[in-house]
Amino acid sequence: DKVVLAYSGGLDTSIIIPWLKENYDLEVIACCVNVGQEDDMEEVRKKAVESGATKVYVEDKREEFVRDYAFRGLKAGAVYEHKYLLGTAFARPLIAKTLVDVAHKEDAKYICHGATGKGNDQVRFETGIASFDPELKIIAPWRMWDISSREDAIDYANKHGISVPVTKEKIYSRDQNLWHISHEGGDIEDLTTEHQEDILYLMTTSPEKAKNDPTYVEISFEKGWPVKVDGKALAPVELLETLNKIAGENGVGITDIVENRIVGMKSRGIYETPGGTLLMEALNELECIIFDKDTLNFKKLVSQKYADLTYSGQWFTPLREALDAFVDKVHENATGTIKLKLYKGNIKVAGRYSDYALYSEKISSFGDSGELYSHKDAEGFIKLFSLPNKIRASKK
Ligand code: ARG
Ligand code: SIN
Repeated sequence: DKVVLAYSGGLDTSIIIPWLKENYDLEVIACCVNVGQEDDMEEVRKKAVESGATKVYVEDKREEFVRDYAFRGLKAGAVYEHKYLLGTAFARPLIAKTLVDVAHKEDAKYICHGATGKGNDQVRFETGIASFDPELKIIAPWRMWDISSREDAIDYANKHGISVPVTKEKIYSRDQNLWHISHEGGDIEDLTTEHQEDILYLMTTSPEKAKNDPTYVEISFEKGWPVKVDGKALAPVELLETLNKIAGENGVGITDIVENRIVGMKSRGIYETPGGTLLMEALNELECIIFDKDTLNFKKLVSQKYADLTYSGQWFTPLREALDAFVDKVHENATGTIKLKLYKGNIKVAGRYSDYALYSEKISSFGDSGELYSHKDAEGFIKLFSLPNKIRASKK
């Protein structure tokens, strides 16, 4: 029989191959899903074979990831616990779906992943897999073996002849895709200290070291979809890459958060989401000029629910799809351009343009508003509006 292993080429997933061979009588099919992590995929392929995989799939899912996961989350305004733009949580369902596809192609009965028993990813992978094929059996070595630290893992690798280039950055547990990179572990686990900007940042630069001139960037949306940067039409992947570069150079999109994991514990993470942060900011601004008050407030509820569902691995659910339908409906008029000014980690709005804006300078202005609004109209309105306050006061 066969097992499909979610493979990244990192330390954890590399030692899983010999471990599987030692503990199971299964042929190992490695599957590496490319969602924009900056790894050399040919190296990854080579490493999987050297470690003992009989076959390697390298699946390029970059476009699907940005279009159907990250940008869906963007439209929904999904931000977890005020700060986390959910980069890892967007990628896990797509990886799970890809693993199932490969398992079906190979007629494999097992799927194996390298997520630990203390984290969110195990929940997301397994919930994602279960959403497509409840018959597939899961093997999660981190919940089974005695290896409990990275040192143990390195020992195991050496014993089985697997090369592990241990460099300084390897002390962190990282997860990268086109939307973000996360950093956890090592000295990040000490809440009392500032994170080490110089060795941590990979998609951005620290605000202090960012360039000394501001950068202006214009992002255009059509029905809530980002379509242009500085007037140039770009496909999703290119658009995100362009914004990642612009934001990264300006030290924009870094967040340091202590979050609540699904499994109950709190954990600290540093996230770099450069382009995503610009997109989120710009779309929020656009919504502010297009949505009426009730729509704006209701969308906030949807955003929060969407973020929670995404974080907890409930991506492939009718509820998530229903929320997408809501978002698409309210975005029918979300067409326009937002100009942002970036400077040393900060973002300011420098211009708002939309033919669908409900904002009217004529009505909101301190000057004459013409027919639609008269100062005198406010008098009767306030009388009714303050009626409950008057009644309450007279009862005292
Ligand atoms: N805490 C973040 C999340 O749950 C990041 C997880 C990163 N995963 C990893 N395998 N390094 O989404
Ligand atoms: C892991 O535990 O495998 C990574 C972190 C997480 O899943 O939350």
